[in-house]
Amino acid sequence: MRINLGIIGCGSIAGHFANDIKYTKHCRLYAVGSRSQKRAKGFAKNHNAACAYSSYHQLLADPAVDAVYVATPHPFHMQNTLDAIAAGKAVLCEKPFAVNAAQAAEMIRTAKKKKVFLMEAMWTRFFPAMIAVREWLDEKAIGHVLSIRADFCAAFNKGPKHRINDPKLGGGALLDVGIYVVSFASMVKSAQPKKISSSVHMTKTGVDDQAALLFDYQDGTTAQLGCSSRHSIPAQGWIYGTKGTICIHENFYHPNKITLCRDGKKEITRNFRHRGLGFRYEADFFAKCVLDGKTDNDIISHEETLAIMKTTDKIRKQWKLKYPFE
Ligand SMILES: NC(=O)c1ccc[n+]([C@@H]2O[C@H](COP(=O)([O-])OP(=O)(O)OC[C@H]3O[C@@H](n4cnc5c(N)ncnc54)[C@H](OP(=O)(O)O)[C@@H]3O)[C@@H](O)[C@H]2O)c1
Repeated sequence: MRINLGIIGCGSIAGHFANDIKYTKHCRLYAVGSRSQKRAKGFAKNHNAACAYSSYHQLLADPAVDAVYVATPHPFHMQNTLDAIAAGKAVLCEKPFAVNAAQAAEMIRTAKKKKVFLMEAMWTRFFPAMIAVREWLDEKAIGHVLSIRADFCAAFNKGPKHRINDPKLGGGALLDVGIYVVSFASMVKSAQPKKISSSVHMTKTGVDDQAALLFDYQDGTTAQLGCSSRHSIPAQGWIYGTKGTICIHENFYHPNKITLCRDGKKEITRNFRHRGLGFRYEADFFAKCVLDGKTDNDIISHEETLAIMKTTDKIRKQWKLKYPFE
């Protein structure tokens, strides 16, 4: 069984996601919606979508669309999602799910009320390598977790008008790439930090482009996390426990290789191969949930998505970073 998927916004990540649809078991790329007819047509042709719509509303009005993937810049995630829910379509919404917790709460509340499936597109969670990491954690392969480290620092090299630097488009490294390290820590701990310390560097346009985050948890665990849009370092994730360590090799946010060490010795390295970039895992999981009539999921639940947004709100508050539309 396959669902008919529509894509809202024919930008960069939408193209990568659409490329991977052919590797899924449960999705068919049926329609694309763009603010521009030309872009919609070109995108539909490149990715074999049956319908190209010159507005998001036209796509949502098509009864054959079962679900949509929202791939617009973050400030539009809430309205695009609310419009899709109003049209009765299930929604897979790109990360960050919203700009702040208030928006996320509104999206979740509306989905629950309408009994429509809604999920954050945190693709990292669905990779077989990350599922294997969660299995190691569940079976206490490294004992109790003491500390977490992760970095997502990637030089964007873009001008002030690019969305990463533009406050009107929800710019900043935290919501774009930092969200992965915050989400990684949340996955490992199944909790949010009780104390957050941070250092930040801001751009001339008024958004963050480099930050160091230190999380303290209720049980004494710490997390050291880094994000940047102005320089690159290997994007690895590390989990240190009482009996060993787990390394998620670069790039940890779409992982292919993981290593478990115990007593200081390398015990197991697992390599994972797949076709495409790996969007098929979240896409198939999402589609299966839709086919099964679910309203929430237990890999990135509504509750956790909202808790993560509350954490990023707290971090931005420390930096006094408020977007013009907030
Ligand atoms: N999962 C991942 O690995 C990943 C990677 C990169 C980005 N993302 C997320 O995906 C979202 C989109 O990022 P992107 O890099 O694909 O951005 P992008 O290349 O700028 O594309 C965004 C698209 O959104 C639509 N849009 C609607 N209103 C817009 C406006 N006022 N200004 C600009 N675009 C507007 C446009 O499509 P039309 O003109 O066709 O309507 C545009 O092409 C972001 O939230 C980002 O965090 C996720």
